[in-house]
Amino acid sequence: MKRIAALLVILLAFGTFAFARGEQGGAAGGGQTLIGIAMPETHVLRWQKDGASLKSIAEAQGYRAEVAYGDADQNQQNRQIQGFLTQGAKLLVVGNINDGVNSVIADAARDNVPVIAYDRLIMGSADYDYYITFNNFKVGQFQGQGIEQGLNLKSATAAAPKYITLFAGSPTDNNSKFFFDGAMSVLNPYIQSGALKVVGPYPETSADNANFQRIATENWQAPIAKTRMENLLSNDARNVTLDAVLAPNDTLARAIIEACLADAKYSGGKLPVVTGQDAEFDSALSIKNGQQYMTVFKDTAKLAEAAVLLADQILKGQTISIPGAELASGALESIGDTGRKKVKAYLLEPVIITRDNISIPVNAGFYSDAEAARLR
Ligand code: GAL
Repeated sequence: MKRIAALLVILLAFGTFAFARGEQGGAAGGGQTLIGIAMPETHVLRWQKDGASLKSIAEAQGYRAEVAYGDADQNQQNRQIQGFLTQGAKLLVVGNINDGVNSVIADAARDNVPVIAYDRLIMGSADYDYYITFNNFKVGQFQGQGIEQGLNLKSATAAAPKYITLFAGSPTDNNSKFFFDGAMSVLNPYIQSGALKVVGPYPETSADNANFQRIATENWQAPIAKTRMENLLSNDARNVTLDAVLAPNDTLARAIIEACLADAKYSGGKLPVVTGQDAEFDSALSIKNGQQYMTVFKDTAKLAEAAVLLADQILKGQTISIPGAELASGALESIGDTGRKKVKAYLLEPVIITRDNISIPVNAGFYSDAEAARLR
């Protein structure tokens, strides 16, 4: 019910605006303006929510909206984006899989079709101007703070160190570097003091590409993380008890926990502190049950609402103003650096979630009524 109410508020905001301007929908007026929405995958549940929210909010604003999921295959996503352009899409919202998307972003630019990079920066391209996401460095900082809090690192010493092993997200997803670097900005001082010891590869930051690639997880695939955790438990971590695992998102966190639970050392309530992000229901339940330690709530409905508002203002040639989204500047400006140009990056605020505040995504209407009932 809450989500419907929220949607009605959004509609009212858009509707009032459109009515005041005597317009309905995008530049062409009426529902004929097509917005193409290309999402990367469905095996990470958040993208199903993103795609559905983007479509419903765009249609409520009077646009025609088509959503396609790339199933972590960039060639497939490129064909889908080509299809949108062939159908005459006037704007594209793209959550890419890797920079293989650049060829079709160039096609869009050639056709004067603006592109909004959605949640993931499109690297190596100078053919678009807008990026909208959460403050992903802060997402990582929250993961680091979760480990700092869960292990009480402020009281740890080199005489009695805590042990951690590190995982990162997909190496083709630029977000993975921001998540990792945010977490390590919190953890590195404890590693340098000896209070925290790393088991397995230790890139101090993602700039150590060789070691970063060793801890990265291709296309965020849970089976890859599970197998790597099993190998760590049998080899590098065989003779220590891990106190924490830096897991970059919920899907991988649950796979890592599964591997740990199969090891007697960690069964019976002795799991390491395991981080995550996306506030997926299964992970929220795991946190409530004392298994996963924390996640990060990135309200995909708010991101979708902001992205559609941005699209609407671009299509209408208006000055861009996105309530609730900060235009990256200063130290954060690099978040929009594609390596070929600095695009305008609009950042929404993430929220750290532990056992104490699971009510935040519940009350935001992020879960179904049945799921919410199990989290209360
Ligand atoms: C990232 C995204 C995260 C994470 C991951 C998995 O780009 O920001 O929310 O879930 O993708 O698809």
